[in-house]
Amino acid sequence: MKNKKRAFVMVIFGATGDLAHHKLIPALFSLFNREKLPDNFSVIGFSRREMTNRQFRGHFENLKDRKGWSKFSKMLIYQKGDFQDKDAYLELIEKLEELDKKYKGQVTRLFYLATPPQNYDTILDFMEDTKLSRGIGQDSINQTKIIIEKPFGKDLETAKSLDKKLYKTFKEEQIFRVDHYLGKETIQNMLAFRFANGIFEPVWNNRFIDHVQITFAEQKGIEGRGRFFDGVGILRDVAQNHLMQILASVAMEQPKSFEREAIRDARAKVIEAIRPIEPKDTGKFTVRGQYEGYLSEKDIDRNSNTGTYTAVKLFVDTERFQGVPFYLRAGKNMPKNTVYVSVVFIQTCHILFKEYGCPEIGNVLTIKIQPDEGITLRVIAKKPQEKLDLATVNMKFTYKDEFGVEIKDAYEKILLDIFAGDQMLFNRSDELQSSWKFITKILKGWEVQIKSSKWKMPKYKKGTWGPKEALDLLEKDGRKWIEA
Ligand code: BG6
Repeated sequence: MKNKKRAFVMVIFGATGDLAHHKLIPALFSLFNREKLPDNFSVIGFSRREMTNRQFRGHFENLKDRKGWSKFSKMLIYQKGDFQDKDAYLELIEKLEELDKKYKGQVTRLFYLATPPQNYDTILDFMEDTKLSRGIGQDSINQTKIIIEKPFGKDLETAKSLDKKLYKTFKEEQIFRVDHYLGKETIQNMLAFRFANGIFEPVWNNRFIDHVQITFAEQKGIEGRGRFFDGVGILRDVAQNHLMQILASVAMEQPKSFEREAIRDARAKVIEAIRPIEPKDTGKFTVRGQYEGYLSEKDIDRNSNTGTYTAVKLFVDTERFQGVPFYLRAGKNMPKNTVYVSVVFIQTCHILFKEYGCPEIGNVLTIKIQPDEGITLRVIAKKPQEKLDLATVNMKFTYKDEFGVEIKDAYEKILLDIFAGDQMLFNRSDELQSSWKFITKILKGWEVQIKSSKWKMPKYKKGTWGPKEALDLLEKDGRKWIEA
């Protein structure tokens, strides 16, 4: 049967970069193999390097499962172009018009900005200058969509001006601001878990929750992405976006409905409710660190003060979470790859069982975002023997055991939603601005710190859980980081 899905052409700016290589092309290829793509589609890679179509296709040798590759790769076209060269955009337009003819009709055009963010302005300017952004050659601009990767700006001001530029040309419905963590199965499940199960909602507040921890640990370092990473740092790279979105799914209020704007409203509201950390308090509430050896990596400024690790203690000023600390940490070169949330409940064991030895921490709900996606509830139980002795045990659910499926990469979901024009799992401008407001204050505080002659960047050894200061952040509150 003929595949009725609408034809599309996706232009990837920065097609020889890391994102296209590791995420976008593999996700498109997998969707193709899963028959989720229309019969008619093309992907145009736009990058600076000189390359033929064939060489461009060969660039993705990393794809493990090559079944279907020769058919899929025929859809990949290369367009060499400097982002500052108008002629390259004009050539691109020719290619797009040819494809319109080939696919005979209404072709959705998707422009994916997968370059380092400093190129966004130039690309958008040239798209406007050549009318590419206005749907040149097509009768409606609405067939054009723009997809923007994080980091969306580098602080509140630049995020606002990027928005301004986008709004000059595009309507909100055409703009897809990607945070691929929103597409992760486990993060989407958080809402189902919290709001579809009546038993959690009554305890999901400051009367029962002692504190919340969010850990985002990666074993890898910066892996040749020095030029990008050194100008950004871990706070902008993953905290401003991924950590904020994980936090939003834990702390948001129940949305009015399960509809796009209701969900986005709830996310935006909770991010807005995060209490700002004033520059004078930066030392008290935030930690940053740099792994040893970072300064001698490729493309890194030898005096760089860029953090590869950060930990932040924050409060969400809603009635529900008033007074409950949230501890967030993210780092490169950590002991393992693991991303998870630990909701630590107030310990009540000692009320009755003090002299029988209560465990230090009692009930913890761990939501494992990756790997081993699942949820574990730690409870206290009596060991099976005559005398009373207590231990903690786990009640565990994993996606793999329960559903017998491997979790798909979030980019597959993200791309499908872009094709369908569904923006629920994409950032709205207000939530991004609230999160930048919070992060920009920290960045300002850090600038002040650097100027003080006493301050030195805390270092940590590769393969450890960050600098000592990160442990102190919790220890001074009588708490510890939980490992999962
Ligand atoms: C990206 C960051 O957004 O997310 C990377 O730029 C990070 O530094 C990556 O490694 C992690 O994504 P995932 O899906 O592999 O956990």
